[in-house]
Amino acid sequence: MFAVVPAAGRGERFDPSAGGSPKQYAPLLGASVIEWSLRALLREPRIEKVVVVVAADDARWPPLAASIGESGIGAGKLSSTSGGATRQESVLNGLRALGATAAPEDWMLVHDAARPCLDGADVRALIEALDGGAGGAVLAAPIVDTVKRESGGLVSETVDRTGLWRALTPQVFALAQLEHAITDAASRGITVTDEAQAMERLGFRPRLVQGSPFNIKVTRPADLAIAAQILRTMGEKAR
Ligand code: CTP
Ligand code: MG
Repeated sequence: MFAVVPAAGRGERFDPSAGGSPKQYAPLLGASVIEWSLRALLREPRIEKVVVVVAADDARWPPLAASIGESGIGAGKLSSTSGGATRQESVLNGLRALGATAAPEDWMLVHDAARPCLDGADVRALIEALDGGAGGAVLAAPIVDTVKRESGGLVSETVDRTGLWRALTPQVFALAQLEHAITDAASRGITVTDEAQAMERLGFRPRLVQGSPFNIKVTRPADLAIAAQILRTMGEKAR
């Protein structure tokens, strides 16, 4: 079992002027967002290696990787490769980098660098959901709010939220199948926003695993303060 952590985004919604320091490097409770995002993966003994996909010109990653290595968390597990223009290209590059070490049927967990509040218990639940022949699995949280469809700034309808979930990460699929699914979507000019979407296109039905609704993606500036509060509440479990 392996993990791919896409971290090559520019974080435009978080800070359009971020330049060389996108949100994954924003300081968060004495570390950076990405260090928190990696923690539960590096600590999971069933994950052999974690490849972080960073922008080709990312000067922040190498020293950070060295310091994570020295900290002893997941010693020897971490490597990196270069990302692409979209998240799906970045994930594909990560899968290809692991292709040299991993077998086609090996499980690949894909987790956003921008999700620092991942609980180790959710990683374990996701992995355990693969027992019994699932073709893949996705952490998700049921939608609790009433959902509206907008049209021209006005509400056009209330969408029945029964059976609707927010897809989170990690998501886990077999290397060769996921690589094929993402390549197939790309070859048809389709941009998918998560791994499950690429797999669903080809008829797969990933298992939904209920995870913590606090596994948020840092997207806008206010999310950073929310993430800090969540991590404080998670307390020792998160450290
Ligand atoms: N990502 C990536 N390569 C890209 C785009 C995104 O590896 N070309 C990563 C991001 O670094 C992030 C994850 O995919 O960890 C989820 O994407 P998102 O939250 O959309 O991050 P950004 O694309 O960086 O943000 P924005 O869309 O606001 O620019
Ligand atoms: Mg994006």
